[in-house]
Amino acid sequence: MRSISILGSTGSIGRSTLNVVESYPGRFQIVALAAGRNLETALQQVQRWKPRLVSVAAEKDAETLRKSLKASGVSGVEVAYGSTGTVRVATHPDADFVVSAIVGVAGLEATYEAVRAGKTVGLANKECMVAAGELITAEARRQGKPLLPIDSEHNAVHQCLRGGRIEEVERIWLTASGGPFRNTPKSEFSSISVEQALAHPTWKMGRRITIDSATLMNKGFEVIEACRLFDLKPEQVKVLVHPQSTIHSMVEFVDGSILAQFSVTDMRLMDLRHIEFAPPDMEKFPCLALAYEAAGAGGAKSVALNAADEVAVAAFLDGRIRFDQITIVIEKVLNETKSVKLESIKRILEADAGARKAAQEKVQQLSNRSAGLRPSPALRGD
Ligand SMILES: NC(=O)c1ccc[n+]([C@@H]2O[C@H](COP(=O)([O-])OP(=O)(O)OC[C@H]3O[C@@H](n4cnc5c(N)ncnc54)[C@H](OP(=O)(O)O)[C@@H]3O)[C@@H](O)[C@H]2O)c1
Repeated sequence: MRSISILGSTGSIGRSTLNVVESYPGRFQIVALAAGRNLETALQQVQRWKPRLVSVAAEKDAETLRKSLKASGVSGVEVAYGSTGTVRVATHPDADFVVSAIVGVAGLEATYEAVRAGKTVGLANKECMVAAGELITAEARRQGKPLLPIDSEHNAVHQCLRGGRIEEVERIWLTASGGPFRNTPKSEFSSISVEQALAHPTWKMGRRITIDSATLMNKGFEVIEACRLFDLKPEQVKVLVHPQSTIHSMVEFVDGSILAQFSVTDMRLMDLRHIEFAPPDMEKFPCLALAYEAAGAGGAKSVALNAADEVAVAAFLDGRIRFDQITIVIEKVLNETKSVKLESIKRILEADAGARKAAQEKVQQLSNRSAGLRPSPALRGD
């Protein structure tokens, strides 16, 4: 029986993981769960799975959860909070498998500590690979433990690599649905609403990754994640727009042969007569080009890419900036970031905080500008 800790149990990936566990009784036990602010779901999950430890983001929420558990007659579950609590979930001595599915850099420290504690990690949180992939993969190699990609594209590559060795790989092809704005003219990007951007044509996911899919930044993050996971150069990782999303990824070997992974997720696989591929439009979706730039530079540039994107997406979702301004914020922050290597998680978190602050300033300037408060010639994009 596998003993599992889930980081981000209340999210889309976390809930799917628990559905899988539910479907295979006797094969898995849930040791520890980490949630953010969704107390209602966290309470239901603890009542159902009786983990030894649960963690939530805020101290006051931990107190509320303790009281609710007591009132509902659940005992023996320790309730922790904050980043210390998340790290304890990630490193719980009884867990042998950790699912990393917190969104954003909030999951970084816990994911790294899980790897350092010798756990096998199932990796959904791509942002932590973008920000700290070099350190995380080096630590996993030191521990002799695999990092198992949960993201469908990287999982597909992982599976195709059973057909050949990594030294025999010429390049890999990550497929992209193209998002909801594949056929939308760029001239209309400034009027895209939050509702339109959240309506992904293919996948139902959390809010940040859905917006990242609409800007193609999600694909850019996947390029960086693939470089770090499979130790490939950015030029060896190609993106192909494939609107049917039936092929999740392909691996091209040095002899010219290509292995593709098709996955049965729903009835779309029945329609194999229509499989289209097209190159991505980097001019229309500059986030992908910015991600390639950060993939090559690594270190502080990758950290800045993720931090600026996290801030810009949140600002778009809050109605503070327009859809087309997400790219402007990220590009500005990236241009201001020096290309330096970061040798510890502490330095990565410091660089992350700096890039976030810079991104908040850009957001503020852009929203002031739209409100007509303080024109800023330094920022283009109206
Ligand atoms: N969804 C997919 O199909 C998919 C596919 C591939 C990769 N991914 C990646 O998987 C990760 C999760 O995506 P998702 O779609 O599942 O996101 P989501 O639905 O937004 O869930 C995010 C999870 O992170 C938790 N969280 C947020 N801030 C936290 C904090 N400070 N401390 C502890 N927990 C915190 C949330 O808790 P609360 O809800 O309780 O606040 C929730 O459990 C992302 O990195 C995404 O890029 C997702």
